[in-house]
Order: sequence, then structure tokens, then C-alpha cells
Amino acid sequence: MSVIALLGAQWGDEGKGHIADKLAAEAAIVARYNGGDNAGHTITIGDTFVRTHLVPAGAFHPKATCALGAGMVINLRSLAREVDELNRHGANLTPDRLKIDVAAHLLLPGHVALDGVSESRRGTGAIGTTRRGIGPAYTDKAARTGLRAGSIANPDAFAEMVWAHVERANVGLRELFEPELEADALSSEYAALAKRFAPHLADVTALVHAALERGETVLAEGAQGALLDLDHGTYPFVTSSSTIAGGVLTGLGVGPKHVARVIGVAKSFCSRVGAGPFPTELREAMGDRLRGTGSNPWDEFGSTTGRPRRTGWLDLVALRHAARIDGLTELVLTKLDVMTGIEPLRVCRAYSYHDQSTADFPRDAAVLGECTPVYAELPGWTEDIGSARCLDDLPRTARAYIEQVESFTSVPVSHVSVGPDRSQIFPATGN
Ligand code: IMP
Repeated sequence: MSVIALLGAQWGDEGKGHIADKLAAEAAIVARYNGGDNAGHTITIGDTFVRTHLVPAGAFHPKATCALGAGMVINLRSLAREVDELNRHGANLTPDRLKIDVAAHLLLPGHVALDGVSESRRGTGAIGTTRRGIGPAYTDKAARTGLRAGSIANPDAFAEMVWAHVERANVGLRELFEPELEADALSSEYAALAKRFAPHLADVTALVHAALERGETVLAEGAQGALLDLDHGTYPFVTSSSTIAGGVLTGLGVGPKHVARVIGVAKSFCSRVGAGPFPTELREAMGDRLRGTGSNPWDEFGSTTGRPRRTGWLDLVALRHAARIDGLTELVLTKLDVMTGIEPLRVCRAYSYHDQSTADFPRDAAVLGECTPVYAELPGWTEDIGSARCLDDLPRTARAYIEQVESFTSVPVSHVSVGPDRSQIFPATGN
């Protein structure tokens, strides 16, 4: 068997947790390969829902090993909180079930402090980060000054490294006249975290290859989405990791030949949280309607920060860009039910830039910011589709909406979701 890559095909928050949880049932290992606790995946467990930020969606599938891969930046304080919470719901994330790659980087308190300070100082030019320290942690990684997870194997030596990290961050904070961090208290706290998590250390890459050699499936669970990719997204309004299929390879240490399926998850509309260009954004009542009121966990409010998401019509130009840079083999279209009752539906099939039409996604965020969407209108439907369980249960116009996505992106839609329940995702093949 092989690696299945599950990736966000928009600006994150496409509903990946939902699908990941379903696919995890078949996987021996479910591994995160990028990002940190900036991500937030919502999964339903019976009547309740839980949010994961670092732990992959395999948490509630007892046979799956959950792995945090080398491409991640891991905040041990957040991990402790999350593992406690998931264990309260019955996840049983013992060292046998939750593995931390020795080569993953650690996201430490100085990173969080510096992320907050630099965001505040950017003023109106702020990226709108989650303020979880992601940028500064990857900066340290690239500068080769970061701490890797393997260093928690020796908690005393690690305490000294954390102390040095905090003192280094304090130099920066002092220069900016910001409150400094307590090096002594933090190094003791992190020594305790190191003791707790040292038994979880592993060579995740070796585990992944051993599973592949046994013929098992490895699910690579993406965080954020293609348009937030550091290289191919709407830079600088992006995250600091590789969110795309290429990130699976570097983040887990596998080659292209190991990846059998590259599944992109896209919502039936678009959303974006944080700043940056978003051509199809709707600022009026329709935007509020797509967002929902926040009264249920599936509404468009950040699952990490609670911020209301910006919402807009489905942008097929951006989605095709994602399909290309990810090499998607299939798409999962989520939240089709949210489009019920909207007449007409609109999808963006080109951009107009200085009166020139283009169907290619601009590589420059400033250019994208000046693009206006060129829409096609499609007829909607009014029937409640929440109980649909196959393509044939959908109204003809809903099927035409799906076909529009397929024909524009040249990627088949393999599954559709029509609600938050596990039973409300079904294969998009007619029967
Ligand atoms: P950072 O990853 O916290 O540095 O944030 C950089 C950008 O990515 C900001 O626009 C965030 O709102 C966005 N972002 C980070 N993580 C997520 C996510 O899981 N879903 C959606 N947007 C995200």
C-alpha cells in the first residue's frame, strides 16, 4: 500500500478533519507533516465534537499510530493540553500510539512572544497570523538555530537549551521595549514537558517506511491549504511551512513514488482567515450567510482563534492552481448543503486584471489583490440535501455544480459532504 496525502486545496479550513477521520479508519499511521498548533481540525465523536491542533485525526482510531512528522513545529505546552483533552474523550494517546519525530522542530515560548510582537508592530500590514509562533519557529529552523524534538531525550540538557532560547528571545523583546520572559520558570516547565514526552520520541520516517513495506496505508494529513503555502501561496499572506503535496515528501521523508493518492479538500465556497487578497470575497449579506452565525462548530469561525472567517464564492481559478501545484488526483467537495437555497450560484472562472481577462492564478499577491472575479452563474436548488447519501440523491442542479468543479479543474470529485456527521460524506459516483 502507500501514502494517501490529504491536503487543503484553498486557504485552509476546508473540512479536512472530517475526511481525515474517515480515512484514518483504514490507515496504520496517520501523520501530520507540516505546521503546528496553528491548525485546527474538528471531528465528531458520537454526539460531541473535539478539536485537534497538533494531534492527527487518527486519535480516535485505536489501531492507528498518530505521528508528528519532521516538517512540523511542535509546541509541547499545547501538545500536553491537547493530549489531556483528547484522552479525556477516550483517545488513549500512550507513547505507543503517539509518536514525535526526533527531527521535528520545537516551537518554544520565545517564538510565541515574537510572533505576537511582530504582528502588533506590522499595524495595518499585519498578516493576521494565529500568533502561535509559527513564523519565528520556522525562522529558527531555517537559520539552523532551532531545537529539534530529539533534544528532549535529555531533560536536564534540554532545560539549559530552553533557558538559552528564552534569553535570546529576551534580547529581541528588550530591543522592542516588550516584557521579557522568565527564563528560569520556563526552563523548569519545559524540563517537565521533556520528561513527559521523551517516551514518545521516534524515527517517524522509519516507522512510515516500515508500514509501507508491510503493505499498510499511511495517511499524510495536511494542515492549512495550498494558497497558504510558503512558496506557492499568496506570499507574504501565507503560513511558514510547505502545505502542498511537496511538503508531504519533505515533511515525512517519503518519495513521490510512495504517494498513490493526492486528495484535495475544497469547500463548496471559499473562506479565508487573516489578511491577504481574496478576489471572490463577499462583504455583504451573502458573506454572512455563508459564514453562519457561529452557533454550531461548523460555522465559519476559526477553530484555533475563533476569528470570523472571510467568505466568498467558489474560486475555480484558485482551485485549479491548487490542483496543479498539488498534483491532485481527486477532490473532496465539502459543505455542499450550505449552498442550498442560493439563487443563482456563482463560481469564479477567470479574473479581470486591468481590463485583461486571465484564467491563470497570479503569482504576485499584489496583482491578485487587483483582480476582480469574472463569474459564471449556475442555477441553485432549494431541496434539503442533508440526507443525501449518493450522487443520485442530489438535485440535478447540485450535480451540475459538482460537474462544474470537475470540468474546470480536470480533477474528479470523489466525495461530497452535505453535513457534519460522518454519515454525511458519500462517494460522488452515480448509482
Ligand atoms: P500563521 O500560520 O499563524 O503564521 O498564520 C499565517 C496565515 O495563515 C494567517 O493568515 C492565518 O490566518 C493563516 N492560517 C494559519 N493556520 C491556519 C489554519 O489552520 N486555517 C486557516 N488559516 C490558517
